[in-house]
Amino acid sequence: MNDKVSALLNDQINKEFYSAYLYLDIANFYSQKGLDGFANWYEIQAKEEQDHGMLMYQYLHNNGEKVTFEAIAKPDKTFETLMDPLEAGLEHEKYVTSLINGIYEAAQKAQDFRTTQFLDWFIKEQGEEEKNSMDLITKMELFGDDARSLYMLNSELASRAYSAPSLVL
Ligand code: FEO
Repeated sequence: MNDKVSALLNDQINKEFYSAYLYLDIANFYSQKGLDGFANWYEIQAKEEQDHGMLMYQYLHNNGEKVTFEAIAKPDKTFETLMDPLEAGLEHEKYVTSLINGIYEAAQKAQDFRTTQFLDWFIKEQGEEEKNSMDLITKMELFGDDARSLYMLNSELASRAYSAPSLVL
């Protein structure tokens, strides 16, 4: 595999585990506010991020590439309002989309079509992740100011269940 592509994928494993850490921090925030449904939604999101990292880990191994782990950064966002984590989540997903696009571009330049095919799933997944983040913001804008509506939104988010990623290597 092209050295640059391999290094970017290796680095992205770290970024995905950071994403898991960030979402666990958000779950922690909502849990402390008594919003267990929001906390559940972000705990599942954290698991999905770990899955993303593991898919890249497995992909590198499948291609005979060495994986090196670096320290995972401390989540450094501060949240005050109930909206703050949702906006931070959307901003973060847009950042991750730019990272995935960058790896895709490097793979294309290196004519590493196996990796572009592998990344197709992530390109689509980022579209879903950004949409989910935007939907949460819209719902909070609509219902967040009313206690009864917020209670129902919290109940809706409590029903999110974890499912393993659809990408099989
Ligand atoms: Fe792994 Fe939320 O993107």
